[in-house]
Amino acid sequence: MLKFNLIVAVCENFGIGFKGNLPWNLKSELKYFSRTTKRVCDPSKRNVVIMGRNTYMGVPPSKRPLPDRLNIVLSTTMSAADLPKEVLLCRSLNEAMETIESPEWCKQVENVWIVGGSRVYAEAMDSERFHRLYLTKIHEKFECDTFFPEIPDCFKEIPLDEHTPDGIQEEDGIKYEYKILEKQ
Ligand SMILES: NC(=O)c1ccc[n+]([C@@H]2O[C@H](COP(=O)([O-])OP(=O)(O)OC[C@H]3O[C@@H](n4cnc5c(N)ncnc54)[C@H](OP(=O)(O)O)[C@@H]3O)[C@@H](O)[C@H]2O)c1
Repeated sequence: MLKFNLIVAVCENFGIGFKGNLPWNLKSELKYFSRTTKRVCDPSKRNVVIMGRNTYMGVPPSKRPLPDRLNIVLSTTMSAADLPKEVLLCRSLNEAMETIESPEWCKQVENVWIVGGSRVYAEAMDSERFHRLYLTKIHEKFECDTFFPEIPDCFKEIPLDEHTPDGIQEEDGIKYEYKILEKQ
């Protein structure tokens, strides 16, 4: 069964979004997101990013679809005509995973990343397909209207991989650090 990873940046009050956007502006963190979700071992393949409708629409039009990755948008109200033709529209997370596992896509895909928002994260953390949570903990409180679900106790921190910067990072006076969690 194809597994997926989650990637998210969360502030101290567990917020992830405000008015359709990220509550902060951390360029290095965005670069980490981009690098991490793009990285493949087999250069003939690419990764998938799965996101809810609001997350996709919150990406500036000039930056979407997210480049070098197969973008899948989850929505029950959009039609395929609302999206560029290279973006796949799926009606559920299950449908998205079944699509990626189909003969048409499975040979082209390496890793699957769940990139938000709230409901997609909650469903994904509950799934037997869940592998790892790549979590950026931002050591500050921001005004938010969208929140990350509670992380279950059985999710434990594992050592960082060689691609993830260790220790406290800082940008414009905002401190944050990278963590990787796995279900025990
Ligand atoms: N900090 C971070 O790392 C991070 C990451 C991602 C997003 N964000 C922020 O979070 C906010 C967006 O998140 P959000 O929670 O409001 O919205 P979202 O999950 O991106 O989008 C919600 C919509 O997606 C569709 N959807 C979600 N789960 C689905 C499922 N399982 N099956 C079918 N459709 C599904 C539904 O669309 P329909 O109503 O059309 O059915 C739902 O109304 C933004 O502010 C964004 O910037 C932050």
